[in-house]
Amino acid sequence: MPTTLRISDLPAHAGSTVAVNAWVMTTRSSGKIGFIVVRDGSGYLQAVVGKRDVAPDLWERFEGLTQETSVRLEGTVRADARAPGGVELSLSALAVLGPSVEFPITPKEHGTAFLMERRHLWLRSRRQVALMKIRHEVVQAIRDFFHERGFTLVDTPILTGSIGESAGTLFETEYFDLGKAYLAQTGQLYVETACAALGKVYCFGPTFRAEKSKTRRHLTEFWMVEPEVAFADSDANMRLQEEFVSYIVARVLDRRKAELADLERDPKPLESVVPPFHRITYTDAVAKLQGMGSDIVWGKDLGAEDEARLTDGLDRPLFVMNYPKEAKAFYMKENPADPRTVLCDDCLAPGLGEIIGGSQREDDYDLLLARIRAQGLPEESYGWYLDLRRYGTFVHSGFGLGVERTVQWITGTPHIRETIAYPRMMYRLYP
Ligand code: 4AD
Ligand code: MG
Repeated sequence: MPTTLRISDLPAHAGSTVAVNAWVMTTRSSGKIGFIVVRDGSGYLQAVVGKRDVAPDLWERFEGLTQETSVRLEGTVRADARAPGGVELSLSALAVLGPSVEFPITPKEHGTAFLMERRHLWLRSRRQVALMKIRHEVVQAIRDFFHERGFTLVDTPILTGSIGESAGTLFETEYFDLGKAYLAQTGQLYVETACAALGKVYCFGPTFRAEKSKTRRHLTEFWMVEPEVAFADSDANMRLQEEFVSYIVARVLDRRKAELADLERDPKPLESVVPPFHRITYTDAVAKLQGMGSDIVWGKDLGAEDEARLTDGLDRPLFVMNYPKEAKAFYMKENPADPRTVLCDDCLAPGLGEIIGGSQREDDYDLLLARIRAQGLPEESYGWYLDLRRYGTFVHSGFGLGVERTVQWITGTPHIRETIAYPRMMYRLYP
């Protein structure tokens, strides 16, 4: 019995006879020579079979193969510079493991609605495989970045009793005799308190927003990584963000060239993503936008169009700093230089817009309580959070980076729905 290998391991076995378990993508035949292209998740492989070189029953099985049949191939690995991965397989045995009848997604074009209904099958296509691999690389880079820098991972709850961001986009559920529970919009408040225990921490998990918007960059369930650093101010926070984003991009450029090529994403523009990123204050940004014809008024959050205008043509992301208080969440620190604003930043990626929201936190008990009241939040559910300001309050900052937006930007994918295996959106709960 030849050794069973994954396709990605084949180049090191040129000349050997091996077995591969995989799914059939396409077949073609000249009548004398047949070709099978298969996928096993590690890569793509072409197997070649000569009608005269094999037993008639093998050739018959080859001719009966259909798209997505699972097969076991045996053959000799041949180096071939033109082949993907640099090798081909000269087939000597072929077993059908699981037949596949009329796979609905064929190499022709399908509409998005058709594909979304069959997301579980669509995932098998080359473009989706590339997206999932790049997503995996981004997630692994995130974990490595914080691990290498001495951060401790703290997992925060998904069922929560206090509102993390804003009352407007909460998913609620009844929680036994304790009233309402909310699906976490953020792990931030919890990770802030853990920061006082461990100094440098991060949480990384799914977060939920009942976004009633059908844009190309909103999901109702998305993954967010949120670091929090003790004794770090807003400037240090932005330096960490630009180092972090550059690290993720460099990692994908280094290790996922083949997948970027599958997506027809030109890696060139990503190569200039290195610190320092561009910086502009919110107030200057508004003036600039008004000069460009935007109807933005001071005090309002920037819309997608404004973000696009600001980043158009930039070689690397842009920090928009110090937004007005009324446009941002209650926990951000008042800016001593202009108390109408807070010490915060949004990191805008060229071509996509906001991928990070970050801020220095309000560390003054009275100011924080006043903000909770001013925003009409239920004060009684923040007692535990306010303890952070009672017992050794400290300067600290943190941010949240959305995984799907980051993958969308790096891969140049027009809509966020393709950056997660099973996207949850206002109109999508199936499959
Ligand atoms: O700006 P946001 O709302 O910030 C927070 O949640 C803070 N608690 C973060 C912190 O300081 N610890 O969200 C952060 C990021 C956004 O920049 C975006 O990348 C992503 O999360 N995001 C979404 N991604 C997809 N769909 C949505 N509906 C998103 N909402 C936010
Ligand atoms: Mg934000």
